[in-house]
Amino acid sequence: MAISIKSAREIELMRESCKLLADVFQNLEHAIKPGMSTKDIDVMGEKMIRAHGCIPNFLNYNGYPASICVSVNEEVVHGIPRADHILQEGDIVSLDAGLIYKGYHSDMARTFGVGEISKEAQDLIDRTKQSFFEGVKMAREGNHLYDISRAIDLYISQFGYGIVTDLVGHGIGTKLHEDPQIPNFAQRRRGPKLQSGMTLAVEPMINMGRSDVEWLDDDWTVVSEDGSLSAHYENTILITDGDPEILTLY
Ligand code: MF3
Ligand code: CO
Repeated sequence: MAISIKSAREIELMRESCKLLADVFQNLEHAIKPGMSTKDIDVMGEKMIRAHGCIPNFLNYNGYPASICVSVNEEVVHGIPRADHILQEGDIVSLDAGLIYKGYHSDMARTFGVGEISKEAQDLIDRTKQSFFEGVKMAREGNHLYDISRAIDLYISQFGYGIVTDLVGHGIGTKLHEDPQIPNFAQRRRGPKLQSGMTLAVEPMINMGRSDVEWLDDDWTVVSEDGSLSAHYENTILITDGDPEILTLY
């Protein structure tokens, strides 16, 4: 399928969808405390999304049973919120969520520390975030899609971390997942040319140890195979004829 180019009207709707999602994340970030359950985060997040008059787009997506993916420590992505999973001081927690505003999807993820965390864990979070920005420097009209992938890979590789290769970023718009797929690691090809009006979800997932992942028996939760900590950083962005716009930034 071709990569959709959004009209000026669609871009306005994407901007609003993303702004509302960023607001939800900002509130969730401030709410995270040791002692709360991963389910508490999901309940709060869903309430905030609905209070904006929006629909949580993850809920029931291919049967996913919650609105916010909550992944703790070695969980990479798609953790299922549970009332008996209590956040502890020193944990790191990745939240991934999206919403639909007037038919337009937004999607973002962040990893937060719970209370005081180790320097190693904070470095992983900071470098995962920075890898997104290294990738996005390349997100310019006329460049190729995999210029983004290569920049993320080059930046992360210096730390000896494992880039998750089983999951990728994606186009986004009237559907949560549109073409193209966006790997977070270098490709031999250059990929499609970037054009103004493309909206993309760029989302590096980085393990402190090896890159291998496995799926738990709940069929959703992705964990690092070696049990090492994992971080995730995602924004929905807009390609323009100049600098990219990071629509979910806060
Ligand atoms: N986290 C995925 C993404 O960012 C989407 C999650 S789908 C769900 O593209 F079903 F797990 F919610
Ligand atoms: Co995504």
